[in-house]
Amino acid sequence: RHPHIRLSADIYAPQRRNSAGVEFGDAAALAALTEKSAATPNRRWAAGETRTPRKIRSPIDGAVIGEVREASPADCTAAIDRAARAFPAWNARTIDARAAMLERTADAIEASRDLLVLLQLEGGKTLDDAVAEIREAVDFCRYYAAEARTSLTPQTLPGPTGETNVLRHRGRGVFLCISPWNFPLAIFLGQVSAALVAGNTVIAKPAEQTPLIAAEALRLLHAAGVPADVVQLVAGDGAVGASLVADRRVAGVAFTGSTEIAWKINRTLAAKNGPIVPLIAETGGINAMIVDSTALPEQVTDDVVTSAFRSAGQRCSALRLLCLQADIADHMLTMIEGATAELKLGDPRDASTHIGPVIDADARDHLARKIAAGRLRFRHPGKGVAGGTYVAPAILEIDTASDLTEEVFGPVLHVVRYRAGDLPRVIDAIAATGYGLTLGVHSRIAATAEKIAARLPHGNVYVNRNMIGAVVGTQPFGGSGLSGTGPKAGGPAYLHRFALEQTVTTNT
Ligand code: NAD
Ligand code: ALA
Repeated sequence: RHPHIRLSADIYAPQRRNSAGVEFGDAAALAALTEKSAATPNRRWAAGETRTPRKIRSPIDGAVIGEVREASPADCTAAIDRAARAFPAWNARTIDARAAMLERTADAIEASRDLLVLLQLEGGKTLDDAVAEIREAVDFCRYYAAEARTSLTPQTLPGPTGETNVLRHRGRGVFLCISPWNFPLAIFLGQVSAALVAGNTVIAKPAEQTPLIAAEALRLLHAAGVPADVVQLVAGDGAVGASLVADRRVAGVAFTGSTEIAWKINRTLAAKNGPIVPLIAETGGINAMIVDSTALPEQVTDDVVTSAFRSAGQRCSALRLLCLQADIADHMLTMIEGATAELKLGDPRDASTHIGPVIDADARDHLARKIAAGRLRFRHPGKGVAGGTYVAPAILEIDTASDLTEEVFGPVLHVVRYRAGDLPRVIDAIAATGYGLTLGVHSRIAATAEKIAARLPHGNVYVNRNMIGAVVGTQPFGGSGLSGTGPKAGGPAYLHRFALEQTVTTNT
């Protein structure tokens, strides 16, 4: 045990367990999962209640899977009215009562068949990504429930004789939760469950690409006892999000998405010239991995391919910039390209598929332009399913680490070579991006890994492993600088940002 590192049990030990996984190597377990994920033919889902419906098409093959009715400005105002009226009663409920609703929701998510199906049909997720996302959503609900019981309950603090000091937490009011399409269940529910258990009422604005999953998650929250006006779905695009942000009654915003939109929201909140509204922003990254000549080539290959291409590279945590020490670069690239060529691109409902579609045609076309503009070194030969939006993984070479100046959100890996003596310049270039989300280091020299991590502000540093799939309560997740404000999702500080703190000092 390291003398300067306290075990988390020393400071914080909520009573809960993470959800169980599925053993994909067990034929019976895989068959049961595949059966569960098989969509009922011609089943249609729906989200939203007013206005003309918009069809939702699956990125897998373009088939219509449901429809969404997006909110008008009047719907946004009415939803906030209802949420504001519902706030005092919800805030007065006990933490135990609110936490129990999250726990019931977690159980329902675990049992849900529709969520598994929708993660594939609407989100384009492979079977293992869909299972992982369901587990993360379940873990968020249980973690925040346990954490609320532990750290949001009133505490008596030390003080002089004749005086009591109590620190207690309450909701802030109407919390706006705006989420992205790439974790349409886990991030959506992570934000919402944290805001609810802290005592807020919630307006949940999912991404326009994935409202059906959000509607199903909300149905489970309501079935678990959360009143309809306490958490409401407001479906729509960025304009709907912007009109919600502008409402003066919004007491806090949790946003996950691009850095550009976080800036816009920040400006709108500041321009209201009213109460200073907290913004929790979790945004993108130009995530780098530095590999030196002491690294284990097979491990690097596996970790690079997983970090860059799993989930079709559509994770904020994904590897974007691979920095290879020049002495090993050719050898490493041959191995990485060989392993990438083995990946199966195609229908994500097939359990053997590694890479499914990207989310929509806009994303596909944007990525095609980025690949066409780069210096292509390798392209996976796959095409995907007709009618779907697939992008075959690509590896592009650049001359210096500072040549990559924006997040390319898909299966596109940029590679740069560096000479051993130039490592400080590589580190400076990574720092100069201003992003600070995930960072990978592959080196068998512990001091090198520590030196790189200490020099950079990244929120999640992975040494000698892949850079994705942070586990709730084990790897609290989130970055700094252009990558977000913190606090980390799935970590002990998260809930506090959703709550008001009140200290009551009584002279007895
Ligand atoms: P996005 O910023 O385009 O959209 C995110 C959400 O914001 C959507 O619900 C969208 O409708 C809404 N929105 C758009 N304009 C708005 C406005 N003016 N006001 C209010 N809301 C508005 O992001 P995306 O394309 O959905 O997601 C991909 C991005 O999210 C990537 O940059 C990725 O790195 C980031 N991301 C970050 C994390 C993290 O934890 N740090 C996790 C997942 C995704
Ligand atoms: N939390 C997600 C991951 O770590 C984004 O990949």
